[in-house]
Amino acid sequence: MEVIIKRSSVEVSHLAARIVAHQVKRKPDSVLGLATGATPELMYSSLAHMHRDEKLDFSRVTTFNLDEYVGLAANHPHSYHHYMETNFFSHVNIPKERIHIPDGLAKDIPASCREYEAAIHAAGGIDLQVLGLGTDGHIGFNEPSSSLSSRTRIKTLTEQTVDANRRFFSKGEKVPHHVITMGVGTIREARCCILIAYGEGKADAVARMVEGPITAMVPASVLQLHENTIVIVDEESARNLARRDYYHFVYNNKVAWQRYE
Ligand code: F6R
Repeated sequence: MEVIIKRSSVEVSHLAARIVAHQVKRKPDSVLGLATGATPELMYSSLAHMHRDEKLDFSRVTTFNLDEYVGLAANHPHSYHHYMETNFFSHVNIPKERIHIPDGLAKDIPASCREYEAAIHAAGGIDLQVLGLGTDGHIGFNEPSSSLSSRTRIKTLTEQTVDANRRFFSKGEKVPHHVITMGVGTIREARCCILIAYGEGKADAVARMVEGPITAMVPASVLQLHENTIVIVDEESARNLARRDYYHFVYNNKVAWQRYE
């Protein structure tokens, strides 16, 4: 696990965007795993700028989103379909047929989850998975106690996560408790993961993910077992990391070919 500590959320997002762009340039038919939520918004707008200004080409890219709310139609303003369309897909040139997001209205949820897994497999697996981090240590919507080998399935959100998500919904609107999410096992199979987090609200989860024991109570901690994971955090969310100085030293002393910027 490589831990990179940047000064601000803007720097975190720009570095994440550069890593995604590098992946797409190196392998134009990359399969990207994508996250929603507040954290990656600036990364998506950065990638949209690269598409517009530097002609970063997504025409051969395939995407799989991590999750979707059960019961929300794709055109619902708070669905993750809508989020992705607004924040990213409408600004770049990924062909519609290459975009995959779990179906929140699926009649047979277990069958649609199996199909989602099969589609990832048929696409050759995920090359680069972008992840955010829940304050309770979740990745995707794999809440604490999720099996570390779990696959795409329905999950029930904790009250902590429902409360955190409430900020995206209108006052009085019901926040869904049920989601379809890629499993921890699905995420672990990605060839590379980049996890981004910022703000002091994430400090506890970041420390438990990076330096705590590997446990289903902090699903993100399983990334310690992943051979190619980059954690990009800001100073505020890194403040509980015991080995902060070491991570800075490693990053500042990389040899030229290891650098992302
Ligand atoms: C959403 C997802 C979640 C979020 C996490 C953090 O697709 O996978 O794990 O990344 O809940 O959400 P924000 O970024 O809103 O703090």
